[in-house]
Amino acid sequence: MEFERDLVSPDVAGDELQIEAALRPKRLGEFIGQGRVREQLSLVLESALRRRLPPDHVLMSGSPGLGKTTLAMIIAAELNAPLRITSGPALERAGDLAAILSTLAEGEVLFIDEIHRMARPAEEMLYLAMEDFRVDIIVGKGPGATAIPLDIAPFTLVGATTRAGLLPAPLRDRFGFTAHMDFYEVGELEQVLYRSAKLLGVNLPDEGAHEIARRSRGTPRIANRLLRRVRDFADVRADGLINQEIASAALNLYEVDAEGLDRLDRAVLGVLLKKFGGGPVGLSTLAVAVGEEPETVEVVAEPFLVRQGLLARTPRGRVATAAAWNHLGMTPPPDAFGASLFD
Ligand SMILES: Nc1ncnc2c1ncn2[C@@H]1O[C@H](COP(=O)(O)OP(=O)(O)OP(=O)(O)O)[C@@H](O)[C@H]1O
Ligand SMILES: [Mg+2]
Repeated sequence: MEFERDLVSPDVAGDELQIEAALRPKRLGEFIGQGRVREQLSLVLESALRRRLPPDHVLMSGSPGLGKTTLAMIIAAELNAPLRITSGPALERAGDLAAILSTLAEGEVLFIDEIHRMARPAEEMLYLAMEDFRVDIIVGKGPGATAIPLDIAPFTLVGATTRAGLLPAPLRDRFGFTAHMDFYEVGELEQVLYRSAKLLGVNLPDEGAHEIARRSRGTPRIANRLLRRVRDFADVRADGLINQEIASAALNLYEVDAEGLDRLDRAVLGVLLKKFGGGPVGLSTLAVAVGEEPETVEVVAEPFLVRQGLLARTPRGRVATAAAWNHLGMTPPPDAFGASLFD
């Protein structure tokens, strides 16, 4: 059964894309949470507007569904600039990137999603473009090949990545501003939910909002998704009333637990505790044991488990914390925490 996983999965597919677009805040003022990022970004944008120059390139890093694409769109809107959207995997050859760069309008915002997945030659072309607003078009092959420099319009690159650690240093260094997006607090997610409920015409009492927010894995995308499922449940079973009890019953039905852990989160913890005695265990071993790609475990499950204090990443591998044993209602073996202390 796929749908429980889909429900809390930070990924989007199908008609959810349209719903997401409809719920997306359009201006910085509507963007909820991420206070520090918002303030820093508004200064960068404001001063660029005053100087009438494109602002520094912006890199956004953070887990899926925290608002990176949303912020990229907001940046273009606040600058009143056109926005071009592409993604790392689409830039396989340098020519793919050259075609985009050479047709940018002055001041245009170029958004490259999943920028860590760009091919090497395109990446090198991007260095020069970011720094000097220039690209070298290579004509010919082998020893006779020549580089023809081509000026391009000053633009602002906005890059997004779920894995900042994979960005090569020369690329990372060329961004003037890096926004680290963190998981949202429950109170912030409540604000996201009230806003979405209003847009969707859903009556959302405080207690319902609180229950959904606290189970949303700190992620606005998941909050919006759970809101719609809870609304469905409430419509069918409770005349549309979303109180704490209804919200909680709906979320239990969809296998989101009281801390917002989904099936993958619980599978990772479960395997770590039951099969590996709490660790330490390597990422790839852990991934094989839950039947997922290491990248999925690392990008999707782990950041939230770490943030909840349930899992620790150590040089020797992944380790469950006391809270993890507690969460799954298990008793740690007597040497569970001693071993790593004295190694
Ligand atoms: N700060 C916020 N305030 C209100 N809604 C938000 C906020 N951040 C994200 N959202 C909502 O969450 C949804 C997902 O956000 P977005 O697509 O920007 O995430 P993302 O970080 O780009 O994810 P991915 O890594 O999967 O590309 C959006 O449709 C938007 O409605
Ligand atoms: Mg995105």
